[in-house]
Amino acid sequence: MPALQADLFGAGLCEPEEVPACLFVVFGATGDLMARKIAPALYNLARDRDLADRLAVLGVARRPRSDEQFRQEMLQALRQYSRGGLDESFWQRFSQRWHYQTARAQKHEHYEALRQRLTSLDRLHGCQCNRVFYLSVSADLVEDIVLNLGEVGLNRPRGDDAFVRLVVEKPFGHDLDSACRLNRTLLEHFDESQLYRIDHYLGKETVLNLLVLRFGNSVFEPLLNRHHVARVEITTAETSGMEARRGPYYEQAGALRDMIQNHMLQLLALIAMDVPGSLGAQAIRDEKVKVLRSIPPLTPEQVQRWTVRGQYVGEGDIPAYTREPGVAADSQVETYAAVRLSVDNRRWAGVPFYLRTGKRLAAKASQIAVIFRPEPVSLFYSADCPIRSPNRLVLSITPDEGVYLVVDAKVPGPRMMLRPVKLDFRYESSFQSASPEAYEHLLLETICGDPTLFIRRDEAEAAWRVVDSIRNSWLATGLPTLEKYPPLSWGPASADRLFEDPYGGWLAIR
Ligand code: BG6
Repeated sequence: MPALQADLFGAGLCEPEEVPACLFVVFGATGDLMARKIAPALYNLARDRDLADRLAVLGVARRPRSDEQFRQEMLQALRQYSRGGLDESFWQRFSQRWHYQTARAQKHEHYEALRQRLTSLDRLHGCQCNRVFYLSVSADLVEDIVLNLGEVGLNRPRGDDAFVRLVVEKPFGHDLDSACRLNRTLLEHFDESQLYRIDHYLGKETVLNLLVLRFGNSVFEPLLNRHHVARVEITTAETSGMEARRGPYYEQAGALRDMIQNHMLQLLALIAMDVPGSLGAQAIRDEKVKVLRSIPPLTPEQVQRWTVRGQYVGEGDIPAYTREPGVAADSQVETYAAVRLSVDNRRWAGVPFYLRTGKRLAAKASQIAVIFRPEPVSLFYSADCPIRSPNRLVLSITPDEGVYLVVDAKVPGPRMMLRPVKLDFRYESSFQSASPEAYEHLLLETICGDPTLFIRRDEAEAAWRVVDSIRNSWLATGLPTLEKYPPLSWGPASADRLFEDPYGGWLAIR
């Protein structure tokens, strides 16, 4: 049977010859993200899709490097982080198209040199003046780079058929005002159609599958509304702390802004959105933004009741957050956050959405769980037995990519005893192939010019409106207080207090 060729992930289905030639320019090329994610994604894309003659890469950073040194560093990074081993002979060939340019973000004169370098690399590798600029730099450098690119004219395509695109990594600002300011600066130099605000969760296979599951099947969609759903729980838990020198960044972010403002509100938007009119970028993003705008900002009283914040302490070899490099000894930054939100529209009014995220938790796990209401007439349970295992639909993003449904079944034997069982779909067993990394998907979409899986300006701003209401209240009232939690636990002891149902609590992660 031929595979379903829906055009949702258009670029993902591009034939190699349909992928345009492109010079991929990474600012911050000596950084951690380049080594761990961007370089492996470019390498795997080129290898798996036969793009080695179409792509060329220019790393840009302030540290001096020769092309050869840069290639050696990238080779080390690929050995360490690339999925599926390294094809040395392929890399020998492809690496000849990887180059390096020293430049400082703030130095205007360096951009003139960059412009000339791009022109000569375009000629050398036949990139047809198509360029993607990827900003993998700290937030405070973004505006300088955008301004300088604009001043030397690198923001505009050279010729009608060529393209220039700009990929911006989060954080998109640190609150609503700064996000609006950043968006204004970006839009002074680039059109919205050139901007790709990246959120790597949107490139994850299970997240993409969420749309197929909901809108490509007839069984789930009729159930996803306030008539059938009791609550939705979204978890992104990590066992890691502040590895890879992340302390200084995290001190400026905290769990709320690092994960909830972007990845988790995107997951919420995808599970709650209405069916889009088409699979086009505008239709999908219009529906997502409607959901984000339907989440009422929290009042200070709600923040106190409906949010929890925590910070991990140390134990054994695991240092406390406040002992991590680059973190203040009296830091009040939250490494755990949980919030209860609502989506005030006809579909979801009255259904609580619980979001929790944290570092140094008991497992690395991300999932969306939809918990259904019990059936109104219960033949198998007595009315005085309120503790039930509810039916639930769980989309597991990490570690086992898949979807499962939990329903009750009869335990074999003479007595009518019920037990919850799982109807389970796992990518690994159904497709027998490893999913590509999220970054591979998203970089290909950028090169092919499909912005569906990127965040539009209004989405980012709508998410900030919600997050600001929580953060401003935390700052103004200090409530709820920051609770300490031990590493490898499920967060602060009071994390269950968001549930008004006395039997409610976070679902166990499988
Ligand atoms: C990043 C956050 O966006 O996502 C990190 O900045 C976090 O703090 C990471 O560790 C989690 O991504 P994943 O794909 O490992 O769940």
